[in-house]
Amino acid sequence: MTRIKRELENWYTKNARKLPWRDTLNHYYIWISEVILQQTRVEQGLPFYYNFITNFPTIESLAQAPEDEVLKTWQGLGYYSRARNMIKAAQTICELHGGKLPADYEKLLSIPGIGKYTAAAVGSFAFGISKPAIDGNVRRVASRWFGMQEPIGTPSSDAQIEILLTEIINHFSPALFNQAMMELGATVCKPRNPLCEACPLQGECVAYSQNLQSVLPNKAQKKKPKTIHMAYLYLNCGDKTWIEKRNYLGTWKGLYEFPNIILEEHRDDHNPFEDWFIETGKATIINNFNFKHQLTHQTIFARLWQISTAESNIVKEKLDTRLKIDADQLQEYPIHRLMQKFTGAIKSEEFNDD
Ligand code: ADE
Ligand code: SF4
Repeated sequence: MTRIKRELENWYTKNARKLPWRDTLNHYYIWISEVILQQTRVEQGLPFYYNFITNFPTIESLAQAPEDEVLKTWQGLGYYSRARNMIKAAQTICELHGGKLPADYEKLLSIPGIGKYTAAAVGSFAFGISKPAIDGNVRRVASRWFGMQEPIGTPSSDAQIEILLTEIINHFSPALFNQAMMELGATVCKPRNPLCEACPLQGECVAYSQNLQSVLPNKAQKKKPKTIHMAYLYLNCGDKTWIEKRNYLGTWKGLYEFPNIILEEHRDDHNPFEDWFIETGKATIINNFNFKHQLTHQTIFARLWQISTAESNIVKEKLDTRLKIDADQLQEYPIHRLMQKFTGAIKSEEFNDD
């Protein structure tokens, strides 16, 4: 342990990137950075981190912020449940912990939206709590270091990693150990072609000594993404259009989008919004656009129907419950990437017409 400890500490001191959340003791900033970095690479996450702490500089300000504003700041980062959960967590922290993150692992874990990874990461960086923070990068490093044959990411393999790393972290400064493991995963022990010659763990690494880098971590068979067919309605009435806030589960909950329906199968020939109008004859189909959008576990085939009508009173109550806005105000609402594709297509069409 003494040799690997010296190697890892030296390596980290010499090689770690300078990152703003490593230079701060502001517990709230540290928390934000960990939530952002859970599913996002550092380079991509940095501008969002700065915007977030600018727009919501304290836990109180986040607890009181309208969800739309938080989602707008998060727009483009994906996995929007992270943002929604942070608001709830901030509210709990204000109600139960006087507006400060508690310096206790179990209390951190009891806050809704703070899971094991975040509790361990924030706990170690902000309070020196000795718990290994296990994310995707750390799983990969650990599975190679210890030569784990079991598929990665299962509860039992996570439990093994936790036991092994808990034993090791106790010999280190917890913050340094967790940061070093993440940094190794991001910059040295990369998914493909890890840079073993530059790695401080080389002397102990099972994958290195047995040349197993390309087969570890052992990934379980991936599930096939589900296919979903959707129709979206971009209805024009003068300068107006309609949007709605998505209220069903999934990553896009709380974001705004054009009114839509989920279809059994894809059909180009039939206007699925026909019965939304009192007089179909007064609604003219202007354009059709097809999109394929890939989410982590879903492939969405979407068809955007641009329909124009002169009188808004020909729409049935289906549209009445939705939000009628000036079309050029759309960018003020938090919208998902597929909506951005829609607006991009609409813009370039308008451009062509000029
Ligand atoms: N990924 C997750 N947490 C991180 C951190 N604190 N620094 C760099 N990358 C990270
Ligand atoms: Fe990863 Fe290579 Fe280091 Fe082992 S020696 S932990 S495989 S980079």
